[in-house]
Amino acid sequence: METEDHAAEGEDHAATGGHGSAHIEDVAFSFEGPFGKYDVEQLQRGLKVYTEVCRACHGLKFVPIRSLYESGGLNYTEDEVRAYAAENFEVFDAELDDFRPALPSDNFPAVTGEGMGPDLSLMAKARAGFHGPYGLGINQFLKGIGGPEYIHAILTSYNGEETEVAGNFLYGNDAFEGGYISMPQPMSDGQVDFDDEHANDLDSMSMDVSAFLMWTAEPKMMARKQAGFVGFIMLVILASLLYLTNKKLWAPHKYGKEMDL
Ligand code: HEC
Repeated sequence: METEDHAAEGEDHAATGGHGSAHIEDVAFSFEGPFGKYDVEQLQRGLKVYTEVCRACHGLKFVPIRSLYESGGLNYTEDEVRAYAAENFEVFDAELDDFRPALPSDNFPAVTGEGMGPDLSLMAKARAGFHGPYGLGINQFLKGIGGPEYIHAILTSYNGEETEVAGNFLYGNDAFEGGYISMPQPMSDGQVDFDDEHANDLDSMSMDVSAFLMWTAEPKMMARKQAGFVGFIMLVILASLLYLTNKKLWAPHKYGKEMDL
């Protein structure tokens, strides 16, 4: 139904029709590669963008608010997080049978209803920015799966077109499968101000919120990489010991032959 509409308008969206053929730019995030780390200041800016912009329509229901101050979190103190939760969110408490301000022990609320978007807790892992070539997924090997790149691309690829399908508005977006998305462009340059006056153009804020959403999807990424690296070093040591042992065990036989004993 959507495709028909595009065809009828004679628009040039054929290129975005196929699986994964929409254009996704690679972004050099700090957390990529075997030694990559989250940039905590970037995560803090991303949280601000989420809180001021995205959460109007998107929940983060799998993310405990306390993870903002826990280790591997965003370097806030428990008191800061308690104040943030109470100021920004209300949750329904079954015991009180009423709404109350959120506590660090609550999760970020779910957001549901007409015009609302999907939960973003795991979105950075649920989408792939890179595919191919030829369905082999080699690009994912080279550039990573591209979940955060996908989110960044969605936020920065609105092309200003609009269409209406069965009473729903759709907005032209070159990164979205099919070329039209039902999310109106959520952000534009300068929308969020940062305390340290960090750059707040659309591109920069989109990177920040994408990095933050990678963190919500995988808060323990640093610990995983570290454990992986220790494991790798241990395997290298083990392999060298085995090699030396093997050499030593066989040495008498080998030299014996050569020396004609
Ligand atoms: C006015 C409400 C609204 C706001 C604000 C909003 N979104 Fe959305 N978002 C939506 C809706 C609706 C969808 C579902 C779009 C669709 O499937 O066509 C969506 C979908 C998405 C998707 C998923 C695309 C996919 O592949 O399914 C991502 C990622 C996303 N939004 C990120 C964000 C981010 C990040 C922000 C904040 C910068 C944000 N959104 C702000 C309404 C909103």
